[in-house]
Amino acid sequence: MLFKLENLSHRYSDGTLALDNVNLDFAKGERIALLGTNGSGKTTLLNHLNGILQPTSGRILFEDQPLKYDAKSLLNLRKRVGFIFQDPNDQLFAPTVEQDVAFGPLNLGQPADQAKKAVEEALKVVGMAEYAEKPPHFLSYGQKKRVALAGVLAMQPEVIVMDEPTSNLDPRGTSDILHLLLHLNKEFGLTLLLATHDVDMVPLFANKLCILNKGKLVTTGSPVELFSNTNLIREVNLRSPRITHLFEVLKKENNLSVNPQLPLTISEARKEILRLLYLENPFENY
Ligand SMILES: Nc1ncnc2c1ncn2[C@@H]1O[C@H](COP(=O)(O)OP(=O)(O)OP(=O)(O)O)[C@@H](O)[C@H]1O
Ligand SMILES: [Mg+2]
Repeated sequence: MLFKLENLSHRYSDGTLALDNVNLDFAKGERIALLGTNGSGKTTLLNHLNGILQPTSGRILFEDQPLKYDAKSLLNLRKRVGFIFQDPNDQLFAPTVEQDVAFGPLNLGQPADQAKKAVEEALKVVGMAEYAEKPPHFLSYGQKKRVALAGVLAMQPEVIVMDEPTSNLDPRGTSDILHLLLHLNKEFGLTLLLATHDVDMVPLFANKLCILNKGKLVTTGSPVELFSNTNLIREVNLRSPRITHLFEVLKKENNLSVNPQLPLTISEARKEILRLLYLENPFENY
């Protein structure tokens, strides 16, 4: 296993139990989405994966070795596990966008010309090349999120942990970044783990979904498995993707014989609609 969380609990100094005995593991190349309401513990969990927070009980294994928290071990971990903070203001600090994105590669010891190339490429893929010279604090929030992502991409990590990477991004930006991440996953086996509130995006992204509620890991499974369990989704105050909800209503209110594995995406919905039309009238050509 790449990461293994064993009985992970975290209690903040004011007594808040933010993670309560979480057991979870994920393998190289997986795409994991973490869902849960505000305050359910997502950020707290992610912050354990690169050592920003340490468990108050339980432990974390990375490639079967318990995480170590001395400076050298943390540096090594952070070379391999890129991290995107929920708030980009916590991430960006250099005088210009370019310098900010270059910080990681230069810090890893890349020669300046190689680092410059990595920076240019990373800024291009997040659509921020023309802002290279600008101070990060003059950027809009969504632009800062893009630059933070560029900073992580430029380091070419093996794992990217993202805390709500697409919040505040416009639809085109969200879709571009989603496609980029999926491409990196497919081509290079990059492992992706993200916390999000964007349930419509989850089925397009994740092969594994984890639901947190009040610091407890409620369940883990494929998106179709969990989103088809509408009672569970409601119990933890989440919602299904819009498309899924539509089919739930058609099933309940119109007695349509929808497949119990509800469609999650437009392409799945299209197949299901054609199947239902065919059941209705097998002689029609759909
Ligand atoms: N530094 C802290 N000190 C004390 N309590 C904290 C601290 N940080 C977070 N908490 C508490 O821990 C719980 C989990 O917070 P966390 O930020 O992990 O939730 P989240 O799932 O990321 O929420 P959101 O969707 O709003 O980002 C909350 O009850 C929060 O108030
Ligand atoms: Mg959070």
